[in-house]
Amino acid sequence: MDTILVMDFGGQYSRLVARRVREHHVYAVVLPYQKVTAQSILEEGYKGIIFTGGPNSVNEQDAPSCDREILRTGVPILGLCYGAQLLAKTEGGTVVSEEESGEYGSTELHVSDDVLFKGIPAESVCWMSHRDRISVLPEGYLTVASTPRCPIAAMRDRTGTRYGVQFHPEVAHTEYGMKILGNFLFGICSCSRDWEMKSFTERTVERYKKELAGKKVLLGLSGGVDSAVAAALLQRAVGDRLTCVFVDHGLLRKGETELVERAFRKRLGKGLIRVDASERFLNGLKGVTDPERKRKIIGELFIRVFEEEAEKLGHADVLAQGTIYPDVIESGLGNAAVIKSHHNVGGLPEIMRFSQIAEPLRDLFKDEVREVGRELGLPEELIYRQPFPGPGLAVRVLGEVTEEKLSVLREADAIFREEVDRLERARRPSQYFAVFTGAESVGVKGDERVYGHCIALRAVSTDDFMTAQWTRLPAEVLERAGSRIANEIPDVARVVYDITSKPPATVEWE
Ligand code: XMP
Repeated sequence: MDTILVMDFGGQYSRLVARRVREHHVYAVVLPYQKVTAQSILEEGYKGIIFTGGPNSVNEQDAPSCDREILRTGVPILGLCYGAQLLAKTEGGTVVSEEESGEYGSTELHVSDDVLFKGIPAESVCWMSHRDRISVLPEGYLTVASTPRCPIAAMRDRTGTRYGVQFHPEVAHTEYGMKILGNFLFGICSCSRDWEMKSFTERTVERYKKELAGKKVLLGLSGGVDSAVAAALLQRAVGDRLTCVFVDHGLLRKGETELVERAFRKRLGKGLIRVDASERFLNGLKGVTDPERKRKIIGELFIRVFEEEAEKLGHADVLAQGTIYPDVIESGLGNAAVIKSHHNVGGLPEIMRFSQIAEPLRDLFKDEVREVGRELGLPEELIYRQPFPGPGLAVRVLGEVTEEKLSVLREADAIFREEVDRLERARRPSQYFAVFTGAESVGVKGDERVYGHCIALRAVSTDDFMTAQWTRLPAEVLERAGSRIANEIPDVARVVYDITSKPPATVEWE
């Protein structure tokens, strides 16, 4: 199978690059730049290499670099942003950092007649995010694209195998980004379109059959898509050596426990264990208001409960999790800045009694996970459930979590979901929920002035949850939800709708 190597220099979009390649039905692997040598490239037989962006300047001392020999392997290279600058510098060109050379956001791209830009109009829009720029080309290179503020927006060597582009073809804002990547894959690397999700599923099952041979595996099932797909994958690999533990932490949505029981009992039989730990979690969260502390406490308690269950089962060696790529990047592993420590990644306690962690979906985005789920024959109602965070309603109750606040939130959330679910699936947002804001507000109920809770409604549309638009829900849906919440829940005096996108806001309020 033709494979592209994505050499990761620490950019936020490294996995996104790999995913875009996979969307062209070409397999891509991501490796940190430190792990790549000319020899490993030749041994693996990669058809092409993409250098990703990164947060550094190539002129800094100790900036991430690449072995010069990699450029001599003859394997085609496409450098993106930092990757392009690195290519230029390694080949003897000059990269400058000037206050005024920075460019952020959409800009006009002018391309010349070149294989990389085949089928693309001379003028289009590309997305830039850089401070440094290439000011002098290496010898033997020529400019093949420019923007008003970046005269060398793309360059290539005379053999037509090494390219550098200053913009980001992988982000949706670059109008012809997918086409440019396709031209690199098929026009320059001569890849064949021979990769499908099926190959991922088969490879992953085969991999875990070997890696987990004879081992007992414990998986934390939340009822969400990610852990469900991870469970189905691992069940194929290890059969009844897989035990799924569903922890009811008391922070679940209305009706969720019953739904998870119903959906999984049949599939897993005795391999499903339900633990009611709600009291333990609520006690642990008493007096805690800081969101990151909430996540850490919940993450830690989760692991403790798992460990106890594992011990009751007579020792499990491996902890499996449904971590997906956005969880990894947003937990600040690697070089990306910490945004939130998602419980299933950053919040793991340092000392764990499991000898191994299995995260089969770690490289995938949500829609790819759904594709694997379909591939594995999971029911649609499960595959299309909206994501629900591990820390549950604890990050939707601002400030201290109490049973009273949770029960108000549960009711409001159930009403909102019910109203949105009247829309056909294609029109539903990617995620929609209610938030207990903690604000108290004046209202009039009957003839009386009341003082009650303010509930916020949040709905976002997104492909990958790394950026998200607030959803323009039909006014009738908002109208019905707002009025039902304020009327049916006695202590609610006001309902507001959140109209911030991500960035600058995040999806969750905490
Ligand atoms: P944010 O709020 O980071 O959310 O924009 C992006 C996606 O991640 C989910 N999310 C979490 N999932 N543990 C999880 O397992 C967490 O701590 C967590 N925080 C946010 C969020 O629901 C959205 O789908």
